[in-house]
Amino acid sequence: MLELAKRSHWLQTLVVKWVSALHPAIEHNVQKTQAIKKAFYFAFLEQLAGDYLEFGVFEGTSLIAAFENDRRFRTPETPRRTFWGFDSFEGFKYFAARDRHPFFKEGDFASNYEQTRQRLEQHFKGRADWHLVKGYFEETIQAKTALDFGIKQISIALLDCDLGTPALLALNFMAPALQPGTVLILDDYFAYRGSQKEGVAGAFCQFQTEHPHLKFRRLFDYGHGGQGFVLADRA
Ligand SMILES: C[S@@+](CC[C@H](N)C(=O)[O-])C[C@H]1O[C@@H](n2cnc3c(N)ncnc32)[C@H](O)[C@@H]1O
Repeated sequence: MLELAKRSHWLQTLVVKWVSALHPAIEHNVQKTQAIKKAFYFAFLEQLAGDYLEFGVFEGTSLIAAFENDRRFRTPETPRRTFWGFDSFEGFKYFAARDRHPFFKEGDFASNYEQTRQRLEQHFKGRADWHLVKGYFEETIQAKTALDFGIKQISIALLDCDLGTPALLALNFMAPALQPGTVLILDDYFAYRGSQKEGVAGAFCQFQTEHPHLKFRRLFDYGHGGQGFVLADRA
């Protein structure tokens, strides 16, 4: 056995080099797609109706992943979902000092709204209803709820805006439309050095404290610090 291990050192070195060479962002984005797949499969198994909401669209890739997985797992009986994407398309902006982060810098992850809209239009090809809401959440959804947009039920939401302030706005916006079974995919959950006061995790902790009647359970982990939760009970 030891001999065999020694003889395969060249192979072990090759695998180690290959896995180390793969950029973590690629690994994370592949697993984000798998997380979206898990959420849509869960919605299929549980016959969950309701819209898909995404906070942090960037160039539209995860919204396309959501559409593809909805198509894959739907049956003729599955109610149609509307796909919603919320983004400034101008990248990050610090609305609070606690949002400062060495990687999520102001202006980073800016994308071209018109190109993203066209990309999504070409992909959706009229096969689903979808909307992009352009602007900082601090302007577009501040003091509003999903009901104001005609969103009555949410099946799945992806929170991919990384900073705590917009994440809390997104959670409060969704609150009245959350139902037992709603899946929340929270990206970068361990950012801000694992803090439970800052970033997406900080927002989710605060949201749960302020909404004690909403009971969440962890559903899955993915990528580099992503988490999926399901609303298990709304007392
Ligand atoms: C990591 S990217 C999203 C990636 C995308 N979900 C994907 O996987 O393809 C983060 C996005 O959040 C958006 N964002 C961050 N803070 C925001 C805010 N306060 N209001 C609106 N959009 C915001 C940025 O513009 C950026 O496009």
